[in-house]
Amino acid sequence: MAFHVTDLIKKKRSGQSHSEDELRFLIDGYLANSIRDYHMAAWLMAVFFRGMAFEEMRVWARLMWQSGVSVARPVRSGFWVDKHSTGGVGDKTSLLLVPIVKAVSEKVWGKNAISIPMISGRGLGFSGGTLDKLDSVPGFSSDLSIEAAEKLMQTQGFFMLGQTKDLAPVDRLLYALRDVTATVECVPLIVSSILSKKFAENLDGLVFDVKLGAGAFMGNLGEARHLAQSLVAVAKSEGLHSVGVLSAMDEPLGWKVGNQLEVEECVDYLSGSRREAGLHEVTMELASQMLALGARGKLSVPECREQCESILQSDLPMKLFSQLFESQGGSVQQFQKRREALAKRPRVPVVAEGSGYLEWLDAQHIGRLVHALGGGRETKESSIDADVGVEIFKKIGDPVSEGEKIYEIVLSSDDARERIPNRGDGGIKISRTAIESTRWIKEIVR
Ligand code: URA
Repeated sequence: MAFHVTDLIKKKRSGQSHSEDELRFLIDGYLANSIRDYHMAAWLMAVFFRGMAFEEMRVWARLMWQSGVSVARPVRSGFWVDKHSTGGVGDKTSLLLVPIVKAVSEKVWGKNAISIPMISGRGLGFSGGTLDKLDSVPGFSSDLSIEAAEKLMQTQGFFMLGQTKDLAPVDRLLYALRDVTATVECVPLIVSSILSKKFAENLDGLVFDVKLGAGAFMGNLGEARHLAQSLVAVAKSEGLHSVGVLSAMDEPLGWKVGNQLEVEECVDYLSGSRREAGLHEVTMELASQMLALGARGKLSVPECREQCESILQSDLPMKLFSQLFESQGGSVQQFQKRREALAKRPRVPVVAEGSGYLEWLDAQHIGRLVHALGGGRETKESSIDADVGVEIFKKIGDPVSEGEKIYEIVLSSDDARERIPNRGDGGIKISRTAIESTRWIKEIVR
């Protein structure tokens, strides 16, 4: 059906809802270039101010997904589950969830019970991206064809990939346009963007990790809850079992921030040599929610958590972690060799200026610091330095003494010292009185 694009912009500008035909006209026209960036930018801004009705958001997400292909499902590949995070600082949980969830499902239900097709993104701005972390493993490729990905699902039941050009292609165009037209922070546009890619994974279940706090997209509980509720409702309306976890992002997650450093932390976590309590809490919550969706009533979330804790006593998650990298051309052994070679990188300590308890370690400051050192990108095309980052020694609530190290800035060469941003307090606050440690899991949205 033909419409005039300016009529549709006016319609949205006056706060009305579009029909499915109108939304299809917008997507088809934009892909065919008969609707231009300036039209779409005006329409996106109208959506930004006027929002979308639930049904409209659902149809828009579906049409965006149907602008591309979906991953085909081999027979006997069980329940397909994934996790999506809205992004944070030091968040390496995706790399841990694939081997942990797969290991538990193999142990409890057998080899093909649960499959995990994980499609992740690159970092943009101060929050990190899973693909950049994966790239710090020598040889690893996240750039596989759909056919190669489908083969991995058949042979092992998991992969970790980047978005291919065939999956929800209109989202790629719209996201780039939103980025330069100040229309990113808009719930219906975020929900449809995220879900268009997740629907293309052909999933049965999906766990959303919606971060909230100073280092997150969503600054407060109300905004984060609204986003999580919208994601869960639209996902469910398309038959996808889903749950939202609201988790804290005020201080960085785990001990390390930076692409190569975060993979180091995952190796240490899975091998059992070192597990930071917050990272463990968030990982266990997300893993048990993913497994509980797959269990479809046979195991509760707490029972799944027990299984996750118990599987970490075995070497199966570490074996699957190595397999994940090897199956996509990488080598954890080579990574460990390189890690030893990198151990002598220059480090700049940031210390406590008084004694007391750590009250604040600003995730956004740490994210921006790593970004400024070259660990993040300015535009989607920029290259990054995977070896820079921050190692943290104190978490919020820990007692600290004057002069004690709170974190160290890890550089790839001495020349990079001049890139360290000059912020007097280093993102740190110390309290004289005792402070509670971070409550990582804020709320579950069903
Ligand atoms: N992540 C996405 O994939 N899309 C958005 O709009 C925001 C975050």
